[in-house]
Amino acid sequence: SPFRSGVPSFSQISDPAAPNQPFVIGVTGGTASGKTTVCDMIIQQLHDHRIVLVNQDSFYRGLTSEELERVQEYNFDHPDAFDTEQLLHCIDTLKSGQPYQIPIYDFKTHQRKSDAFRQVNACDVIILEGILVFHDSRVRDLMNMKIFVDTDADVRLARRIRRDTVERGRDVDSVLEQYANFVKPAFDDFVLPSKKYADVIIPRGGDNHVAVDLIVQHIHTKLGQHDLCKIYPNLFVIQSTFQI
Ligand code: CTP
Repeated sequence: SPFRSGVPSFSQISDPAAPNQPFVIGVTGGTASGKTTVCDMIIQQLHDHRIVLVNQDSFYRGLTSEELERVQEYNFDHPDAFDTEQLLHCIDTLKSGQPYQIPIYDFKTHQRKSDAFRQVNACDVIILEGILVFHDSRVRDLMNMKIFVDTDADVRLARRIRRDTVERGRDVDSVLEQYANFVKPAFDDFVLPSKKYADVIIPRGGDNHVAVDLIVQHIHTKLGQHDLCKIYPNLFVIQSTFQI
């Protein structure tokens, strides 16, 4: 190849994302592992780019009246609890540069708001966060970078009890029962096995500033390469023409 003799090789800029599409980062981990904190830290440090945070929680299906009557038997940690087709449509729409109206989910009523949406617009970076965002291969395949937030189960349970009683209108007994019956088994069956797809595993979640700094550095590099490709789309052609 003519690029081998001291001239910078552009092969490093090859990336699964097309140059004019947003860079998609998937962030997963068990319940209350600190996913939201990690996303917020990344967003803060990437303030000079247009970033959209998409929460998988927004795509929870609303419960029917029969399901609501027996809500303590409903498994919110199973992949079927989410409308994954709609989530795929959302990411596809954003990747094509169109705006999207994301549903607003209420954890107290287990329903989506019928009359309100969160409008998100075209962006450079999409962060997709949720307990099961690595489960479906179609969702996974949309991601350019996959992060697993790894936090001890006792820390997560303690946080979950505090959060669900304070913010989600639950009592301690129901939180513990749901955890034992659904949350922990689903973590073992679906969340933990998806760790193998991660590019980066962050121990201790949002407390790990070093890991977040390294991730942000990498994203900056990748976004710089995306910008290069936008300016010089023919770099790819040059590379494939001359590489023998
Ligand atoms: N869930 C619930 N009731 C509903 C819908 C979901 O209790 N009506 C619970 C599910 O049991 C699932 C959890 O919500 O375990 C998913 O949210 P979680 O990942 O815990 O919330 P985040 O704020 O995204 O987590 P983090 O603290 O990691 O940011």
